[in-house]
Amino acid sequence: MLTARTVPDLRRLVRAWRRAGSSIGVVPTMGALHAGHLSLAAASRKRADRTIVTLFVNPKQFNDPADLDRYPRTEESDRETLAPYGIDLLFAPPPEVMYPAGFATNISVSGVTEGLCGADRPGHFDGVATVVSKLLIQTGADFAFFGEKDYQQLAAIRRMARDLDLPVGIVGCPTVRDPDGLALSSRNALLSPEERACAPALHRALVMAAGRLRNGEDTACLAAAAAEIAAAGFSAVDYVELRDAEDLAPMQRLDRPARLLAAARLGSARLIDNIAVEPAGCD
Ligand code: PAJ
Repeated sequence: MLTARTVPDLRRLVRAWRRAGSSIGVVPTMGALHAGHLSLAAASRKRADRTIVTLFVNPKQFNDPADLDRYPRTEESDRETLAPYGIDLLFAPPPEVMYPAGFATNISVSGVTEGLCGADRPGHFDGVATVVSKLLIQTGADFAFFGEKDYQQLAAIRRMARDLDLPVGIVGCPTVRDPDGLALSSRNALLSPEERACAPALHRALVMAAGRLRNGEDTACLAAAAAEIAAAGFSAVDYVELRDAEDLAPMQRLDRPARLLAAARLGSARLIDNIAVEPAGCD
C-alpha cells in the first residue's frame, strides 16, 4: 500500500493508473478504522480496479473544538488494519494540504441537511460537503463509497455530486453492526462497559418502532421509541424521526419507502443510527 500526503503525489499515481486503463474507487474516512470502514474498502475492491482510502480528520466538520481534539488519530494502527485488504493507496494529507492559508470556499447543501443532525451541529454538513468535494476532485475517482450508517451525510453527498455534475458514482453501503445490533462507530470507544451494555437499546427501539409503523400507526408512536431509549439509560434523545428515503422529507405515516433515524446521548458519546422501513407489500 502506497502513501501520498500531497495532491501532486496523489495525482501522479492516479495518472499512471488511468494510463493503464484502470477504474478507481475512493473510500473517504477520518481513520480509527473498524469493520464498518473495511466493508466500504471491500466494496470498492470489488467494483474498481484500484482503491484509494483517504484518512483525514476534517476540522471543518467539527463544531466543538473539544470533540476535534479528542477524535482518535491512529494512522499507524489504521495502516496495519488495512494491510490485508489489498488497498492500493492511502491518501493522508496534513491539514495545510487540504486547507492552505487563504482557503475561502465553502460547499453548502440545503434541503437534506436541514433538521436531524443538521439541527444540532451547525456547519457540520458544510464541512463534510467541502472536504468530500475536494477529495472527489483530487482523486478523480469513478466510484466513492459511503456508509448508510451516516444516512443524512450520504444523502447530502449524493445531492452535492448530482448538483455539481461530479463524474463519480456515489455508492451507499449497509451499516455494519455488532451482534447485539449496535452500529459500529469510532465513538463507541468512548463508552464505559455499563454504557456499552445500554447502547444496543437505540437500534432495538428503531426496530420496534418500525414494526408499529408497518402496522399502520402514525409517527405519534415515535415518542414511545424515544422513551424506551431514555429508559435504557441514554441521558438525552436528540431525535427519532421518519423521513422519506430519498429526499429526507418529514413523513407522518409509512406510505412510501422511508428511513427511521435517531440520535441520542450516552455518557460523553452521541450515537446515531437509522434503518430502512418499507410499507407492507413494497418489496
Ligand atoms: P468516518 O466517520 O471515518 O466514516 C467514514 C465512512 O465510514 C463513512 O462513509 C461512514 O458512513 C462509514 N461508516 C462508519 N461506520 C460504519 C458502519 N458501522 N457501517 C458501515 N459504514 C460505516 O463519515 C466520515 O468519516 C466523514 O464525515 C467523511 C465522509 C470522511 C468526511 O470527512
